[in-house]
Parts: sequence; C-alpha cells; structure tokens
Amino acid sequence: KRQPIVAIDGPSGAGKSTISKLLARRLGFAHIDTGAMYRCVALAALRRGIDAEDEVSLAELSLALRIEFRPVGDEQQVLLDGEDVSGAIRTPEVSLLTSRVSSVSEVRENLVELQRRMGEVGGVVLEGRDIGTVVFPQAQAKFFLTASARERGRRRYLELKGKGLDVDLETTIAEVEARDAADSTRQHSPLAQAPDAVLIDSTGLSIDQVVARMEAVVVARR
Ligand code: C5P
Repeated sequence: KRQPIVAIDGPSGAGKSTISKLLARRLGFAHIDTGAMYRCVALAALRRGIDAEDEVSLAELSLALRIEFRPVGDEQQVLLDGEDVSGAIRTPEVSLLTSRVSSVSEVRENLVELQRRMGEVGGVVLEGRDIGTVVFPQAQAKFFLTASARERGRRRYLELKGKGLDVDLETTIAEVEARDAADSTRQHSPLAQAPDAVLIDSTGLSIDQVVARMEAVVVARR
C-alpha cells in the first residue's frame, strides 16, 4: 500500500518547520518545506535584479530554477541550482520579497506543480499554507497548526532577540497580526484551514506533545 501524504498548514510562527521536521523523522518520511521553495524564487530574483513588480519574469524564473531538498545527517539542505542556500533564503530581505513573490498566481501554479511531483509518491510530510486545500486536497492526514498571535509574536521576539537584534515585543506581535491578515486575505490561495484538517493549537503545548498527537493521527489512518 502506498505511504500517506501528510499536509501541515498554518500561519508563520506556529512551529510548523520544527514540528514537520520531527514528524517526518519519526515516520521515516521525506520532508518538503514549501515555504523554502517560495524563498528560493525570491532569492534568485534578488540576485538577478528582477523587479518585484515584474510578474512575467518572476513566473519565468520559477519555472527555470532547480529546487531540491537534500538530507544531510539529521538536517535537510535546500539546494538552488545545486547550491546550498539553506541560510541565504532566511534573511529579512528575502522574507520580505517572498511575500510578494508568493502572491503571483503563475509562480504559485508552477511551484504547486513541482510540489505535486515531489510528493505524489507518498511517504512525505509537506508544510506550507495551501497544502491541504490546493496542493494535495486528497492527503490522507491534514493538520492546521496554529497558536495565538501573542504566543507566535513572543516566539518570534525571542528568536530575533537571540540573534542580537533590537526588537520590541508589542511591535513584533503587531507584525505577526499584520502578516496573518495579509496571508488570509490575499486573492490567490489565501491561508485557510481545510474543512477536513485536524486543528492543533500549539499554545501551551510542548513540541513533543504536538508531534505525538500528529503521529497518532497519521498512524491511525495508515
Ligand atoms: O513558511 P515560510 O515562512 O518559510 O514561508 C515564506 C512565505 O512563503 C510565507 O510568508 C508565505 O507567504 C509564502 N508561502 C506560501 N505558500 C506556501 C508556503 C509559503 O504562500 N505553501
């Protein structure tokens, strides 16, 4: 029997990346971070000097790039045309452009196509914003992982503070709320919970508790 497809969607800061990675490891599945794919398009656009408003060039770029995931020990590298860009795609400059890039319909269509090809064999955990709704509506297990805006803002604040940045807690929470509003109201594939997704609110839960809850759901549906 074919291995299941696991979809994990939710807003930023809910712990999706950490949890998807751990869940994939426990299940022995591949892990596909679709946010990293949108980030790769943004990074390549920055490097090539493509204008953020030039939707035609952004769409062409998203088709031309070779984006791959390569497991290295317990971690996973993101390769862009063979180069390890795992760190380069996480800068604030790339994050900002990614929001713009991911709102271009043709870019989304191209990356969704690629995500389907990567995931259709099964035995995968895909994380993103539209996996259970658009990419794999037929996924065997779907989760919508969230946490309160306060909690997500607090985590983000601690993360930035840890990097030595001068940040303010209330401002960070307000930014999280603004990003939520933008992600949920954009025209193409807004962030939304699939009707058949299992809602998990990670506020007050440990990472292990969340992973264990998800694993139980996947195992029950196998
Ligand atoms: O998850 P991550 O923060 O890396 O995603 C970066 C950006 O890519 C998000 O802000 C979101 O707008 C976009 N994204 C998306 N659809 C996905 C994954 C990410 O629009 N499936």
